[in-house]
Amino acid sequence: MAMPFSNAGGRKKRDHMIAIDLGQRVTKAVQVQRTGQAFTLSGMALMDTPIFDKALSVQALAEHLTAVGKALGAKTRNLTLTVGINDSLVRHVDMPQLPATDLRLILKNNSRAYLQQDLGTHVFDCVSGSGPASATQAEPAKAPASKHRTLVAGAKRQLIDDLVAGAKQAGFLADHIVPGILGPLNAFELTRPEVFAGEVVGLVDIGFKSSSICILQQGELVLNRVVNMGGDRLTAGLADYLNINYAEAEGIKLGMPHEVQSALESLVTPLGRELRALIDFFEHQQDRSVSQVFLSGGTAQSDLVVQSLRHELMLECTAWNPTAFLELALPESQTADLPRAAGQLGVAVGAALAAL
Ligand SMILES: Nc1ncnc2c1ncn2[C@@H]1O[C@H](COP(=O)(O)OP(=O)(O)OP(=O)(O)O)[C@@H](O)[C@H]1O
Ligand SMILES: [Mg+2]
Repeated sequence: MAMPFSNAGGRKKRDHMIAIDLGQRVTKAVQVQRTGQAFTLSGMALMDTPIFDKALSVQALAEHLTAVGKALGAKTRNLTLTVGINDSLVRHVDMPQLPATDLRLILKNNSRAYLQQDLGTHVFDCVSGSGPASATQAEPAKAPASKHRTLVAGAKRQLIDDLVAGAKQAGFLADHIVPGILGPLNAFELTRPEVFAGEVVGLVDIGFKSSSICILQQGELVLNRVVNMGGDRLTAGLADYLNINYAEAEGIKLGMPHEVQSALESLVTPLGRELRALIDFFEHQQDRSVSQVFLSGGTAQSDLVVQSLRHELMLECTAWNPTAFLELALPESQTADLPRAAGQLGVAVGAALAAL
């Protein structure tokens, strides 16, 4: 199965879609309905992601998706799944101007030439950029005019097949599978349209073991990178510092972060430094400044973390709400959870939008 992007591709659009973001720590699910230009959130669920063995078992995935569908109050079988940042690659590549089906085949047969890796067992999807290759190039590659800057995503075919099989066993039709890293972009476009269209901003999603940064320049993705740090590192670091176990450290991190403020700040510093280095790289290449950074993911719900990152990045940092543009029709039992959960839903909401 191919991997559609944003709102591109000729796949059938639905008016009702469930999207499930299989996060490393927490699975996030949303049910979104489209009516004309408006989008309504009619279901939401957060559930711990089971720890899969090394290989994802289709059976375990099916059981998990069944439980998530139940908690969500699923009203449709149409499902979009996301592939995590460590299981997918998303990269700009200079490619000939050809239809996406041809580009997919070229990538499959020549992955080493275009992606510097043998990825013969991957499936790919592509979106051609609007301008010539060098127009928004973050890396200093000079491409012939006949080549176009193309956004390429790939994932192992086996993983995609397993996701589709697990979803089917759970009663879903997983006809859209998207790279999770692109989710927040779609949600941001509708949440903050003026900023999306007019500024150069960083979208940072702080995950469990890793985090991602996407730099958007007037609505175009110009740089995306993964940083191998997330909420897990903060908890593990606190456990070491306080000489307590992981569960106790997690409790303190969530319940009384100000008691351990200086330790938390110093644990956030390496993440801030890595992000600052990536922003510096972009700014020097493009001679453009990033105006502000928008944070999502569980860890971004901590004011202390947001403040520490603001200090480290020397940029305005804001935790944004990727559900703010949605009309709400949630069952009463889910409404109370939304304010706490909203900041974690960017990947799922954006993935649903890609299929609507
Ligand atoms: N209020 C909070 N303050 C600090 N950390 C928090 C808070 N709420 C959640 N977290 C942390 O967020 C992390 C989980 O975040 P999230 O759900 O975004 O990860 P994930 O999506 O499962 O991971 P990934 O994106 O890497 O697959 C956990 O480490 C948890 O401790
Ligand atoms: Mg996540």
